[in-house]
Amino acid sequence: MAQGSGRDSREHALRALTRVLSDGRFIDEALAEVPAAQRPWVHEVVAGTLRWRGRLDWIIDQFALKKRPTGAIRKVLDMGVYQLLNQQQVQPAWIVSECVDLVRSREGEAASRFVNAILRKISGNLEAWRNPAFPATDPEAQARWASIPSWIWKRIVRDHGLEWARNFAESSLERPATWVRARAPVDRAEAGPMPGSYRLKEWWPVHQSEAYLNGELFVQDLSSQQLIQEFCETAGRHGRVLDLCAAPGGKSAGLAWNGWEVIATDRALGDERDTLGVQRRFKLLKGTADRIRAEHPIRALARDEALAMGPYDAVWIDAPCTGSGVIRRHPEVRWVKGERELDSLLELQRGLVQEAAQLVRPGGFLMYSVCSVLSDELLAARALVTEGGAGFEVAREWLLADEADGFSGVLLRRR
Ligand SMILES: C[S@@+](CC[C@H](N)C(=O)[O-])C[C@H]1O[C@@H](n2cnc3c(N)ncnc32)[C@H](O)[C@@H]1O
Repeated sequence: MAQGSGRDSREHALRALTRVLSDGRFIDEALAEVPAAQRPWVHEVVAGTLRWRGRLDWIIDQFALKKRPTGAIRKVLDMGVYQLLNQQQVQPAWIVSECVDLVRSREGEAASRFVNAILRKISGNLEAWRNPAFPATDPEAQARWASIPSWIWKRIVRDHGLEWARNFAESSLERPATWVRARAPVDRAEAGPMPGSYRLKEWWPVHQSEAYLNGELFVQDLSSQQLIQEFCETAGRHGRVLDLCAAPGGKSAGLAWNGWEVIATDRALGDERDTLGVQRRFKLLKGTADRIRAEHPIRALARDEALAMGPYDAVWIDAPCTGSGVIRRHPEVRWVKGERELDSLLELQRGLVQEAAQLVRPGGFLMYSVCSVLSDELLAARALVTEGGAGFEVAREWLLADEADGFSGVLLRRR
């Protein structure tokens, strides 16, 4: 059995976790300061702890009835319990002793004894904690078991039923696979169900590979590949498509490889709400457009310019959303975004749909997708049909989850 990670790595993990949970950083940003040699271990523990956090706290609180731990003590406990449940190759006693040492050095002897007692109790009954019974009736306890914030959990149950929600939560606790789309077979990867899809058998830096640098490969989750494939089955494989929310360019790349002439844009560069983010994302989009080899090269254009080139044969809105479908791949998102943000997202989605509807030629298509499984996030697109007048009908709808990332989508055809 392997021994522990070393105190230094655990300190890095604690700092990274704090950056995500207290400063609202994305994991990749939070890990940027971790030395490269320690990053894989720290990434595994931080991402895993965030994925499991709701359930970890639920387990911990069953022991810490009187004194609910907070701050660094809570985070060290979360990381320790995550490892105890998931890193079966590491001796439990090592995990406990490293956590206890770290807490002693930061918080003193009494706190370290408290952490020691909780971790020992949990490690004494690990098999039971690895598969805890699903709470039958209490929605708050179910949400904690599911490791999904209560407001998202309740909406998923309302939209898709308890069984579906439970399966979704369980698969969202697993480590995500990396999928790519490539022109030729990929090293250390197996072919997937979509044309050109490959699943890496283990993670390796594909972005340094020759195929990636030559624009013959890009990283794309399986759901997005499926949406593009099935969009093309209905909307065809030629014509001009506007990718309205395109950065960093995954959908654009997939559409270009399926024969579309892609005009890609994103938020206006002068958007004052988040100028740096806007510029960084546009740079990523431009990088994808320049790199990807396709019969019709992707054109990344400023928003005004792209809108002025309408009407289009198709417009794809891959809308900003809660990210509730990709909580396995981006485990921090569920803890960072709150219910308060939902209303403004829904409004933003409505605005994008209204704008895009004007840009579709008669007989053309409007594709709307979100990496979310909340039905409310499809309302904007459905409203074009239900409210009438706009001349759109539903051609196809999607709710993807299971093995793949959670995505919802609606394809509308303009009469
Ligand atoms: C889900 S991401 C797009 C991912 C991209 N389609 C891909 O497959 O790589 C949503 C995008 O919407 C963009 N966005 C946010 N508000 C927008 C707006 N008002 N107009 C256009 N794009 C917007 C964000 O900058 C972000 O790049």
